[in-house]
Amino acid sequence: MEGVRRADVRIFQVLRALQGFLGQSDVMAYLAMMTVRLLEMRRVLRSTGSIYLHCDPTASHYLKIVLDAIFGQQNFRGEIIWRRTNARATTGRWPRLHDTLLHYSKSDAFVFRSLKVKADENKLPHTLITGKDGKKYQTYELTGPGVTKDGESGRPWRGFNPAKYGRHWANSHGTMDMWEEAGLIHWPAKNGFPRRKSVAPFDPSQREVVVGDVWTDIDRINQSSKERLGYPTQKPLALLERIISASSNAGDTILDPFCGCGTAIHAAERLNRNWIGIDITYLAIQVIEDRIKTWLPATKYAIEGIPKDEFAARKLAERDPYVFQEWAVGRVGGQPRGRGPDKGIDGEIAFIRGPGRYGRAIVSVKGGKNVGPDAVRILKAVVEREDADMGVFICLNDPTADMRTEAALGGRIVLPGGERAKIQIVTAADLARGPNLGILTELNIVTATLAARTEKRKKPPKSPTPEELRAQPPLPPMPIKGGKAGKQQPTLPLDEPILVQPKEVTRRKRS
Ligand SMILES: C[S@@+](CC[C@H](N)C(=O)[O-])C[C@H]1O[C@@H](n2cnc3c(N)ncnc32)[C@H](O)[C@@H]1O
Repeated sequence: MEGVRRADVRIFQVLRALQGFLGQSDVMAYLAMMTVRLLEMRRVLRSTGSIYLHCDPTASHYLKIVLDAIFGQQNFRGEIIWRRTNARATTGRWPRLHDTLLHYSKSDAFVFRSLKVKADENKLPHTLITGKDGKKYQTYELTGPGVTKDGESGRPWRGFNPAKYGRHWANSHGTMDMWEEAGLIHWPAKNGFPRRKSVAPFDPSQREVVVGDVWTDIDRINQSSKERLGYPTQKPLALLERIISASSNAGDTILDPFCGCGTAIHAAERLNRNWIGIDITYLAIQVIEDRIKTWLPATKYAIEGIPKDEFAARKLAERDPYVFQEWAVGRVGGQPRGRGPDKGIDGEIAFIRGPGRYGRAIVSVKGGKNVGPDAVRILKAVVEREDADMGVFICLNDPTADMRTEAALGGRIVLPGGERAKIQIVTAADLARGPNLGILTELNIVTATLAARTEKRKKPPKSPTPEELRAQPPLPPMPIKGGKAGKQQPTLPLDEPILVQPKEVTRRKRS
């Protein structure tokens, strides 16, 4: 709230009024967090730009008040209902199928391009007529709204006076005469108003309709979606492409300050826009990098806000140990385990041991200053318990002699590039340089997800027996943690980390 008061007293008053009703609640904290960011969004938005805020129906009505206050009621452009899923039975309430997208512009001179999509072939338009040949033909209005006093557009044509209906002819009498001679005017029975008839018969497969503010044709990312990356809040590319196509031009810049696994970036790149993505989690940035490498390999970009040297790595460990952990695991090519009880596993690496053979390494991160041989011993025990192939111990300082001895006692492993210690120690300086563990992690998050899906399709998993289920260890948290992280990490500034596309971009030919 304090940040808002300093930024804009009027908007602070709006928030205070909401606080009077909502009290010190989670919703209020969320609104305050969003308000500071929306104020920044308004500041950086170009005068012809638009902002789309995606929210669920539990907060959309409060956010609309906040957005009205920040962008002005007159700049409210629409509320899009995105039906993202199909009905499932829910007890005691209507199944929740939609999310809301609030659209505001910065001024009344904003870019907007109306879009069309293929129409539902089963729904025939009511403007069809049956021609003499028995085929269906589309018909079109010959008049426009409003009465004209001068000229022939306000005068009757062939006995029909559009002014009677508050309208005028949208075409000259001469053109309509020509159409009439060509048999292209439809005269409805019972003296109905004439309409123009299309030349070719109606083809339902060619019909397009204008996209309105209820979107039912874009499915959410499901288990079998081709674009699925496993990031829990991932949005469909089609959703972002629609928004970007409608509200920007090629060469414009798209900013997604909560970019998650980078759907907006992907869409912007495909549509020849420049882009900036910001996310609070390193994991999101890692997924985006992998996404770019896999699907948009010619893209040029730079990442800012992540440690570039040992000093920055140490600073990060001090400021936010969990974020340091996430970054460090990513640096050694692993996937973080997420928060909560970790059973000694902060991350895992899948690496190549030979043709078609993969190994698994357990990563343990200790971002504190006092780390000794006991911690290495614990990692060795976890590697053994998990029947993993390697252990990677990450700490800030150079390991002591005792720690080195403890690691060396863990034995050796044969890898495609030669023999290596089974337990490897990586320091903050190694992380900054780019650690060399001697392992090949050919799979990135995107290709790993794709491979997993193909594998799943090949062999439908057999259902475990109750005995097998009982024998299984408890499920770990999902390896990719995204969404709602704002609540978990409210302290990082908005501008870190940031993934920015440089201005000069060499575009590759798109397919
Ligand atoms: C709903 S997800 C975005 C999903 C995205 N549209 C996609 O398709 O992947 C919200 C993202 O915002 C990030 N986030 C939460 N709080 C943030 C903050 N204060 N600053 C920047 N990013 C934040 C989360 O890490 C999460 O990845």
